[in-house]
Amino acid sequence: MIAPGSTIGILGGGQLGRMLILAGRALGYRFHVFEPKGPCAAGMVADREVNADYDDEAALRGFAEAVDVITLEFENIPAEVIETLSAIKPVLPGKQALHICQHRQREKDFLKASGLPCVPFEYAESPTSLKNAVHAIGFPCVIKTAAFGYDGKGQIKLNAPHEAEDCDYLWEFLGEPPRVVVEKWIHHVGEFSVICARKADGSKVTLPMAENIHVDHILHASIVPARVTDSTRAAGEALARQIADRLEVVGLIAVELFLAESGDLIINEMAPRPHNSGHYSIEGCFTSQFEQHIRAVTDLPFGSVALHRPTVMINLLGDLWEQGTPDWAALLADPQCKLHLYDKGAARPGRKMGHFTVMGDDIESTLERANQHFELLQS
Ligand SMILES: Nc1ncnc2c1ncn2[C@@H]1O[C@H](COP(=O)(O)OP(=O)(O)OP(=O)(O)O)[C@@H](O)[C@H]1O
Ligand SMILES: [Mg+2]
Repeated sequence: MIAPGSTIGILGGGQLGRMLILAGRALGYRFHVFEPKGPCAAGMVADREVNADYDDEAALRGFAEAVDVITLEFENIPAEVIETLSAIKPVLPGKQALHICQHRQREKDFLKASGLPCVPFEYAESPTSLKNAVHAIGFPCVIKTAAFGYDGKGQIKLNAPHEAEDCDYLWEFLGEPPRVVVEKWIHHVGEFSVICARKADGSKVTLPMAENIHVDHILHASIVPARVTDSTRAAGEALARQIADRLEVVGLIAVELFLAESGDLIINEMAPRPHNSGHYSIEGCFTSQFEQHIRAVTDLPFGSVALHRPTVMINLLGDLWEQGTPDWAALLADPQCKLHLYDKGAARPGRKMGHFTVMGDDIESTLERANQHFELLQS
């Protein structure tokens, strides 16, 4: 066990790291953050922020030597960095989970090989093979760069064959990546996610499934409890637990799911870290995703994930700042609402600047209140 009072190193300095630290501080842990460019949202609440490039070996070594365990809030960490660090201190969730989840092709191959339900896909490594892949999958489909995608970045949806005529242009538009995945576009009836926390001894807890609303490929809202049947809920939780075990995760794994018209769940992707769709758990659950992550990597027992009340989380993207800082008055005046701001500085469109959480007696009225608050912020 890594006892309270010890120091946890976090790779990545965004809002996920910030909320991990805020949760871990309550348990008495100290935090160092490694982020190439500062000042960062997590560094502001950490004991120490290291700003150095991932190829700065001396900085990486110094970082590892000063902490007791290392974890991450961002999975796109180069494999060499993990090698360097893990020779000095344990890096969790572990090499296998990271290696697979940071690359869409490996992720899909893993799901297929494990017999888990995933979206039909093809790969491509050039404009010519892209054309073949797109026509093999059919329309609509979506092209995604195999590595470094987040918040819908590095994605192009194609609705009809004429949009795939100029694959040279599409390839250029995607930044000439080494590899892309072409996925069938799923006409789903809803999107959901389950976050499973797992410890080295294999013990696990799954947070209540969230129902997620995306706008322009970016998460807009999470609704908990998800409005699904008990069997869908159980199936989603079972998938997340299975994946956590197969990847031998120590920490969190978030599994994003589509619910097909047939009633089957299809896995969209996985993230081996806290997830935006789990932010509701800060107020919604007795133990949040962030605290469970800290408990998993320090080998403390898990807390209860019981949901207190119906909860809705809504993201605050930089677009809302277009005419200056939004007026928070109504949100702050609602006694059943909590505002979270990440102190990230410049509010660019699409940038995650904060979120708010609304709680209520039943999910429909809670969702209505959350939507009203969001509309007010936009006006
Ligand atoms: N094959 C698909 N069928 C239907 N919708 C899709 C498909 N792929 C992506 N989407 C939509 O785009 C969203 C973002 O896609 P995806 O999860 O692959 O992106 P990402 O860039 O990894 O985003 P994030 O890191 O925010 O999860 C999905 O949640 C979904 O709404
Ligand atoms: Mg996603």
